[in-house]
Amino acid sequence: MTLVATGDLVAAAKRAGRGVAAFNVITLEHAEAIVAGAEAAACPVILQISQNAVKFHGGGLLPIARAALAVAEPAAVEVALHLDHVEDSALLLQAADAGFSSAMFDAGALPYEENVTNTRAAAEWAHQNGLWLEAELGYVGGKPGAMASAHAAGVRTDPDEAVAFVAATGVDGLAVAVGSSHAMTSRSAALDTDLISRLANVLDIPLVLHGSSGVPDDEIRRAIAAGMVKVNVGTALNIAMTGAVRAALAADESLVDPRKYLAPARDAIAETVRVLSTVISR
Ligand code: G3H
Ligand code: ZN
Repeated sequence: MTLVATGDLVAAAKRAGRGVAAFNVITLEHAEAIVAGAEAAACPVILQISQNAVKFHGGGLLPIARAALAVAEPAAVEVALHLDHVEDSALLLQAADAGFSSAMFDAGALPYEENVTNTRAAAEWAHQNGLWLEAELGYVGGKPGAMASAHAAGVRTDPDEAVAFVAATGVDGLAVAVGSSHAMTSRSAALDTDLISRLANVLDIPLVLHGSSGVPDDEIRRAIAAGMVKVNVGTALNIAMTGAVRAALAADESLVDPRKYLAPARDAIAETVRVLSTVISR
């Protein structure tokens, strides 16, 4: 049994000056591939299931959560389970019983005072139930389904506001806006490494990078050297998966057995996880 707590993985990475990768799980194949890729890289990993992924599965958390847990438990590397981008408090309240050791409460698109009030309540509940809680300050745009007008592009987390936010909410990890954006299909984001250093200098808790699929390897390495710890990746896995499915279907028009395209898709995700895990955790 190699299931560990997210808080322990993140704390160990922060102490060692390394990053820890958190990959989005949408289907069972994602979970299998992420663990296989992390094992190939011999790196710890966080499996994260977002509120949007739960919505994709009809709103039920348990089927995909239990599948991810069952994949994690026999893994040869340490694996933690995280509930990501939770906006619905009713979903957050299911996290502990469903086997998650952490959650991200996503109120980053709300005005500051509302973000503080809602996040403080989420953190109190999380701590009463033994969960590590991540929150967001300085909206990271581009999330599927999010209001495009919530924040202007290029918004940044202010270090003074971040210190006040962490003190007011008691959160354990902070997602910050430092130049990345969700769901990028090209790796062209330029991070504000100076801002990451300033945030890391004034905050004791670990920083979280969202939208890391759009960030080139060297930028990820610089961000970690500057103090970034948890690095969230989703879209890169879906690019790999969908590319492999397209290629398999294009190569054989008579193909009908889903295993014939899901197997290469799973292998493609695993290889992406292996490569990125090495960038993030070494
Ligand atoms: O929380 C999840 C991540 O921020 C994923 O972002 O799909 O752009 O890599 P990405
Ligand atoms: Zn995110």
